[in-house]
Amino acid sequence: MIEKIQAVLNEIQSLTAKDEKELESLRIKYLGKKGIVNEMMAEFRSVPAEQKRAIGMQLNELKNSLQEKINGMREELSHQHESEIEQLDLTRSPYPIRLGTRHPLSIVKNEIIDIFSRMGFLLADGPEVEDDWHVFSSMNFAPDHPARDMQDTFFIEQHPDIILRTHTSSVQSRVMESTQPPIKVICPGRVYRNEAISSRAHCFFHQVEGLYVDKDVTFADLKQALLTFSREMFSADTKIRLRPSYFPFTEPSAEMDISCNICGGKGCSLCKNTGWVEILGCGMVDPNVLEANGIDSKIYNGYAFGMGVERIANLKYQVKDLRLFSENDVRFLDEFTAAN
Ligand code: DAH
Repeated sequence: MIEKIQAVLNEIQSLTAKDEKELESLRIKYLGKKGIVNEMMAEFRSVPAEQKRAIGMQLNELKNSLQEKINGMREELSHQHESEIEQLDLTRSPYPIRLGTRHPLSIVKNEIIDIFSRMGFLLADGPEVEDDWHVFSSMNFAPDHPARDMQDTFFIEQHPDIILRTHTSSVQSRVMESTQPPIKVICPGRVYRNEAISSRAHCFFHQVEGLYVDKDVTFADLKQALLTFSREMFSADTKIRLRPSYFPFTEPSAEMDISCNICGGKGCSLCKNTGWVEILGCGMVDPNVLEANGIDSKIYNGYAFGMGVERIANLKYQVKDLRLFSENDVRFLDEFTAAN
């Protein structure tokens, strides 16, 4: 028995445990109810009386050494644990940080800006709260011209000359009054109209205006710029179609359709089975507009266009209800991601 005890005593030095679980199984193995030490205690009962004292002392030593070793290992493990905790960064957020997504109108607006920037257009902007001059008079709307009724305007009650701009064409006037040609700008912005809110109309929406004024600008230049834009924005095989129209600030004026990008021109509910969808108004800048804004119409001419951002976003994303764009419902907004 003495040898057995000695063998276990020798083992003790080399015991290791890398975690609490291993330590516990060592404890059970040696000091547990059915462990090695208790087994020896049982054996001890049958040791002859004259050896009891010597073996008893050895057995006690074994028990104490084991207990000490296991306590020591437990202490070591708890220090190790502490140093692990010290390495934790307690300032880190306990849950993943949610990254926002860009608003679909911003995604589309940025894309429009990108495309026209590549064609040499610079950015310009102007105020949303405007005066009658910049929105209407300087854009060739006569005071009693019925064209003023084309757009339902929000007026400031105490100040009928101050209005919420109904179109970004007012920025054309802002740019021309302060810059001499060549002028090549696009003006993205929000516009307001006194309309009942529904799935198809809203009292505010977004436009991007374009203006190019220089010497010898032609309608062909306009058409080429718009074709390039349409193909970059939608697809390389997009077709465009210009229909004669009327705007006070352009002469001649046109509305432009693109071949429906949903059905590829075959006809669907979005294009009302025509294969075409209207996306913008455009034309050659009326000489009256140039003159009203301080530009000599005998030397310069130009083209202009204006498009609705919601309209283009609808074509890209087929959003059925315009109100979704301004309700800020994250379930809707989360559907859009873009690199830019
Ligand atoms: N301002 C027009 C609108 O709000 C859009 C427009 C049409 C802008 C023709 C233009 C243009 O610059 O040439 O509906």
